[in-house]
Amino acid sequence: MNWSDRLIVEFDKGLRTVFSEARSVRPVPGAQQPEVEQSPEQRRHTAALMRINHVGEICAQALYQGQALTSRSPEIRASLEEAAHEETEHLAWTEQRIRELGGRKSLLNPLWYAGALGIGILAGKFGDKWNLGFLAETERQVEAHLDSHLEKLPAQDRRSWEILEQMKVDEVKHAETAVRLGGAPLPEPVKRLMRLSAKVMTRTAYRI
Ligand SMILES: [Fe+2]
Ligand SMILES: [Fe+2]
Repeated sequence: MNWSDRLIVEFDKGLRTVFSEARSVRPVPGAQQPEVEQSPEQRRHTAALMRINHVGEICAQALYQGQALTSRSPEIRASLEEAAHEETEHLAWTEQRIRELGGRKSLLNPLWYAGALGIGILAGKFGDKWNLGFLAETERQVEAHLDSHLEKLPAQDRRSWEILEQMKVDEVKHAETAVRLGGAPLPEPVKRLMRLSAKVMTRTAYRI
């Protein structure tokens, strides 16, 4: 495929990511756990937390697609396909959990997606070493963020809890993959900037 063919394929993927339902091959973690009683207020809070995680997964889709578009190495693209596939499952799990809790997905998803894709493509311009470094750092920050959400979730809500736990296991693996493929550690100011933009994203997605 040449560059413009790939662009069309990725554009189609983007539309599907934002507007259609994601599918999971693995069973949804926590699916065997009973649904517990939560007050309407608590349910809204949990659904909002899951919406943030869903937005994170929308962004992950875009970042991996940006990588696929810009990486010059077919080996790297192939190795990252597996991680990208797991990100699609995360998307499906969080989406399903939001629905169960009676919440809704972020209205800004097309915007989150476009923003993350832009960042992914920009990172790709710096070459695989930095692009993969960016991917690894993103995954590490997501891991830290999931830890904080595991603390904020109502402890009895095992259905939500187990989804985040499995996502964390996967994100750790994704970070390791990106480093193994040659990702370089990012300069501290870049990491700080990433944390800052993630904070803006989580605050906004909690509400919208
Ligand atoms: Fe993920
Ligand atoms: Fe990941």
